[in-house]
Amino acid sequence: MKEKLPKKIISALDDEYLSIVGSILTNKEYCKRKEYHHHENRSVYAHCLLVSVRSYKIAKILGLDYKTAAIAGLLHDFYDKDWQLSKEKTNIRKAHGFRHAQEAVKNSYECFPDLMNKKIENSILRHMFPLNFIPPVYLEGWIICLVDKYCSCEIFSRPKNLYKYVGLKKKGGADDE
Ligand SMILES: [Fe+2]
Ligand SMILES: [Fe+2]
Repeated sequence: MKEKLPKKIISALDDEYLSIVGSILTNKEYCKRKEYHHHENRSVYAHCLLVSVRSYKIAKILGLDYKTAAIAGLLHDFYDKDWQLSKEKTNIRKAHGFRHAQEAVKNSYECFPDLMNKKIENSILRHMFPLNFIPPVYLEGWIICLVDKYCSCEIFSRPKNLYKYVGLKKKGGADDE
């Protein structure tokens, strides 16, 4: 998937940010997410980069743990498959929106064990609040949760697609044009 990131984001990728998350951004398994569809025409890789950079900046301004914000932001959607193209039939409780945060935690521990800790784990696991009922424990997790929603705000321009955006319906469904 060829895509351009906003200039604002490119210029925000400073040396400190890259020293924190460089090993994730260049990881072979992680880079496969450049081909995974997020919402509409944005890749999962680009979406996570947006969430990570914005969360990192906000955490820094607020004097919070910006390393956690940067890492958890990148890993929050590190789930298994390009679910929008998957033909697998699932019942609602196993729909992408409910299960992908757990997949992201599992994959993060497998690929980046040295970067993981309980705060990052919780921030990834709870980012789908309130769809997943339990809220984040840490302030950094709240930042990820809110920035993720802000970065997905095309929801509000196409409210009919809400079910698809929250992971309850796949790309190519009845509301797709
Ligand atoms: Fe997510
Ligand atoms: Fe996300």
